[in-house]
Amino acid sequence: MSVLNQKKIILGVCGGVAAYKSAELLRLLIKQGAQVQVVMTASAQQFIRSITFQALSTKEVRSSLFDLSAEAGMGHIELAQWADLILIAPATANTIAKITCGMADNLLTTLCLASKAPLLIAPAMNQQMWLNEATKNNINSLSQRDGLSICGPAIGEQACGDNGPGRMEEPEVLLSACQKTFTNQAEQTPLYNKRILITAGPTIEDIDPVRYLSNRSSGKMGYAIAQVAQKQGAKVTLISGPVALNAPSGVDLVTVRSAQEMHDAVFEEVTQADIFIATAAVADYRPIKLAQKKIKKNADTLIIELQKNPDILSDVAKLENKPLCVGFAAETDNLENYARNKLNNKNLDIIVANKVGADQGFEVDNNELHLFWKAQLWHKEGHKKEILQGQKKLPLASKKQLASQLLNEVALLYFN
Ligand code: PMT
Repeated sequence: MSVLNQKKIILGVCGGVAAYKSAELLRLLIKQGAQVQVVMTASAQQFIRSITFQALSTKEVRSSLFDLSAEAGMGHIELAQWADLILIAPATANTIAKITCGMADNLLTTLCLASKAPLLIAPAMNQQMWLNEATKNNINSLSQRDGLSICGPAIGEQACGDNGPGRMEEPEVLLSACQKTFTNQAEQTPLYNKRILITAGPTIEDIDPVRYLSNRSSGKMGYAIAQVAQKQGAKVTLISGPVALNAPSGVDLVTVRSAQEMHDAVFEEVTQADIFIATAAVADYRPIKLAQKKIKKNADTLIIELQKNPDILSDVAKLENKPLCVGFAAETDNLENYARNKLNNKNLDIIVANKVGADQGFEVDNNELHLFWKAQLWHKEGHKKEILQGQKKLPLASKKQLASQLLNEVALLYFN
C-alpha cells in the first residue's frame, strides 16, 4: 500500500506558468490514495482555473481567508491542523519570501504559519529571480528550518525563453519527494517497524441461536491505538470482537466473536509480537452449554450456568518470551487498587485504568486514563534486575489523542 494512502495533503498553488503541472501532480497524489485540499493564491487563478482542481480532487478549492461559507465548513486553523503535509507547487519567489518572513497575508501563507505539518516547497520562477541574492538568502534560511524541504528547481528552458535554474520539478519527482517525507517521518518514530498486537471490542458468548452475553465496548479505544501505531510505522495486527468500525488502513484485521476465538487468534500471532496491548472487553464467563434451539420462557426464573473463559492477557504474560504486555482495567470504583492488583496478578508491564459507567469509558469518543507500570530492567553487567515503577494520568481527551500519548509511554518503557 502506498505511504500516501489516507494522508491529508494541502496542495498550495501559486501564480506561475508551471501551475498547469500541478493538476497532473494532484492526479498522481489522488491515485496514491491521498486526500488533497487545493489552496490557490489569487495570482494562481490568473494561470489556471480552480474548476480543474475541483474536478480532480472532488473538493472545493480554497483561495480566500475571508470566504464565510468555506470557513463555516472547516475554518483555516482547523484546515492547518488537518494537514499531514503542505506541498506548495509551484512556489513563487513572492510566496517563498513571505514564508521566510512569517507573513500571513493570504490563506496559503496563513496555513503555513498555523500548521505543524511538514512543508515541501517546489520553487518555480524565472532563472534570474532564482539567482537573485534576495531569493538565495530566503532559500538558505528556509533550508535550515526543521520540517521544511525544498525540491528543485530543475534547470532548463523556461516559458519566457530563458535557459537556467527555475523550472518546477516534474510531478513524478514531486510525488516521490512527498512519499519520502512520510517514509522519513515514520522511520524517526520509536515504534517504527515494531510489531504490535492489539485486541479490541467486546466478545460475544452465545446462549442459544438468538441470545448472547456481551458488553458495551465499541472498539473505539483499541481501533484508535491501532490507527496511531500504524501511522507511527508499526506493523499492527488488530484482533477485534464484533464492532461497527472500519479497520484502520494499513492494519491487519482479524475478526472474532467469542473469548475462546480471540484467545486462539492472539496465540496465532503473539510469538511475532514485540508489544501486546489488550483493550478488548473480554467476557469473563460463557454459558457451559450452548442451547441448540431457542430457549422457551416456560419457568419464572432461568438459571444459566457459566464457566470461566481463558484469560488471554494472563496467558500471554506467562509466555517465556513474552512481548511487553499492556493491559486495560475497566472499573466502576476503587480504580487504582483494582488496577494495581491486575498489574501484579497478571504479571503485566503496564496497566491502563479507566472508569466505566454511564457515558464513561465504553462507547464514548473521549476518555481519561491512569497508567501504572512496573517494568523489570535487566542490566547487562552482572545481569542486575531492577524494577522501574511509575504512574501517569492522561486527562480527558479524545481516544485518538490518548492513543498517541499512551504509545509514547509504551515506547519509553519498551526501550528502557
Ligand atoms: O471499546 P470502547 O467503547 O472504546 O471502550 C474502551 C474500554 C472501556 C473497553 C477500554 O478502555 C478498556 O478498559 N478495556 C478493558 C476492559 C476489560 O475487560 O477490563 P478488565 O478489567 O475486565 O480486564 C483486564 C484486562 O485483561 C484487559 O486488558 C482485558 O483485555 C484482559 N482480559 C480480561 C479477561 C479475559 N478473559 N482476557 C483478557 O485478556
